[in-house]
Amino acid sequence: MNNGQDIARAAALLAEGGLVAFPTETVYGLGADATDDDAVARIFATKGRPQFNPLISHVTDFEGANKLGIFPNDAIGLAQVFWPGALTIVIPRKAGCPVSLLASAGLSSIALRVPSHPLAQALLKAFGKPVVAPSANRSGRISPTTAAHVRASLGDAVDMILDGGPSQVGLESTVVSFLDGKVRLLRPGGIARQDLEQVLGYKLDEADAGPLHAPGQLESHYAPRAALRLNAEKPLPHEIYLGFGAFTHGPVSLSREGNLVQAAANLFRLLHEVDAAGADHIAVAPIPDTGLGEAINDRLKRAAAARP
Ligand code: TXA
Ligand code: MG
Repeated sequence: MNNGQDIARAAALLAEGGLVAFPTETVYGLGADATDDDAVARIFATKGRPQFNPLISHVTDFEGANKLGIFPNDAIGLAQVFWPGALTIVIPRKAGCPVSLLASAGLSSIALRVPSHPLAQALLKAFGKPVVAPSANRSGRISPTTAAHVRASLGDAVDMILDGGPSQVGLESTVVSFLDGKVRLLRPGGIARQDLEQVLGYKLDEADAGPLHAPGQLESHYAPRAALRLNAEKPLPHEIYLGFGAFTHGPVSLSREGNLVQAAANLFRLLHEVDAAGADHIAVAPIPDTGLGEAINDRLKRAAAARP
């Protein structure tokens, strides 16, 4: 397990331009000093990620975020309710924002998140600067929710992996942008659309297609090796079945009780497990599209999409 010495070593590695994988409540992140262009470039190289995909800057609290971006009132409202937690807010960069432009992929906006995981908080405090962190997996693979997933995907390519146990939420953060006078849902995630809309008091605008507003939304993004068939009420003879609620056949279920929060937490871990077991064909039970079901179905659709 980790102690204060591990945190100090991790912070020192970040300061030297190193890459440190660390736990967050959503998924594990591959962290680097957000202000160091070379370190940010190493993230793209290590993930094998297309460079137009901008990164999230992680900070300890709202004050830290407020130094980097220009918050409209409604963004402050969301931050007050959902930070620390699984929400990423995209807003215009502040003049003099020290975060590498490479992390913003050259855009004039910045993505900000305050994670709640105690180890993530400890690391950010010890380091004292924003940390960019995409999910700690090779591009196109399933996001890691345990330190073992990170080791399997990135291994020696990272300088250190902090182990904080399994990620509680299990899905990446919800990404909301406040740009051009619109409030858009760019990526469904660990906080449900309805909960955001309740705080805002209005409906979110849909993300436009195109590189600026929906980057990182490559169709096949969360791919296991196996082929996936969705909305399957039961498996065919050659398929491994990922059940949900009443649609459970065999030992593997996202949630036998039909609980979407539980299903989100289990999703990536179970996809990793059936993948590691060498499954060629996976059938997945129908998942309702409400609450966290929207994000689960989004990830499943990407996992099932044709591979490049
Ligand atoms: O839960 C999470 O968000 C995890 C943990 C580690 O914090 N991180 C994560 O990062 O999922 P990543 O890089 O895999 O996804 C970042 C998402 C992408 O969809 C990206 O396009 C979007 O945030 N994003 C980042 N900066 C943006 C910007 N300036 N404008 C629009 N979208 C942006
Ligand atoms: Mg990712």
